[in-house]
Amino acid sequence: MVKLTINGQKVQAEEGTTILEAARENNIYIPSLCHHEEVTPYGACRLCLVEVTKNGRERLVASCLYEVAEGLKVKTDSERIATNRKMLMELLLARCPNNKAVQDLAHKLGVEKTSFKLDDDDCMLCALCIRVCQEVVGVSAISLVNRGVDRALATPFFEPSSVCIGCGSCAYVCPVDAIRFEDIGDTRHIYWPDNDMEFKLKKCKTCSRYWAPQAQLDYIIKKAGLAPDAFDNCPDCRD
Ligand code: FES
Repeated sequence: MVKLTINGQKVQAEEGTTILEAARENNIYIPSLCHHEEVTPYGACRLCLVEVTKNGRERLVASCLYEVAEGLKVKTDSERIATNRKMLMELLLARCPNNKAVQDLAHKLGVEKTSFKLDDDDCMLCALCIRVCQEVVGVSAISLVNRGVDRALATPFFEPSSVCIGCGSCAYVCPVDAIRFEDIGDTRHIYWPDNDMEFKLKKCKTCSRYWAPQAQLDYIIKKAGLAPDAFDNCPDCRD
């Protein structure tokens, strides 16, 4: 175990954990948007900034990437942090001014308006959906494409992905609801910010309801080595 202080409070954390994880274990709030415990941290939003003092030197770091160390002193709410976090939040608000989740977090951090030029995006390019698709689902259906102001989240070449299974994990995990999906009749529609796709849904043999994308079920059957008829019935009609 490693001993450190956060806001003057002595805490212990497992070696290899990040400051963000150690803070959460001790009920110390650090704002974050792009962090998820199931996937590799990426450091995109920078809202999790904290101030660390090591060997007498103070600096700002992203707490979701920075690992705890013996004797480390961490501040989560200094004036320097507040100024930097406010500017980051203003930038985010300028990119996604109409996004409810971004507006709510801005409000929580005391930011009501932005001094930066307004855009009209929903996606904040945190890549959480990409990491979940790759690392949890095991598919790489989406990625960040283009550079600079044209940077966007999309399937390769904005074409329908040949590997997407329509599971909707990207939508579930998006911290700002920039990705949506809906099931209409026998079809699932997934809407990414810059393109969308459709997937046929499997019909339950017993109750006849359409209940999951066929491509997702085929993927699970193959990966888990299940019988081809393993998902003929929906969860409600299974024994
Ligand atoms: S949560 Fe650390 S950079 Fe986004």
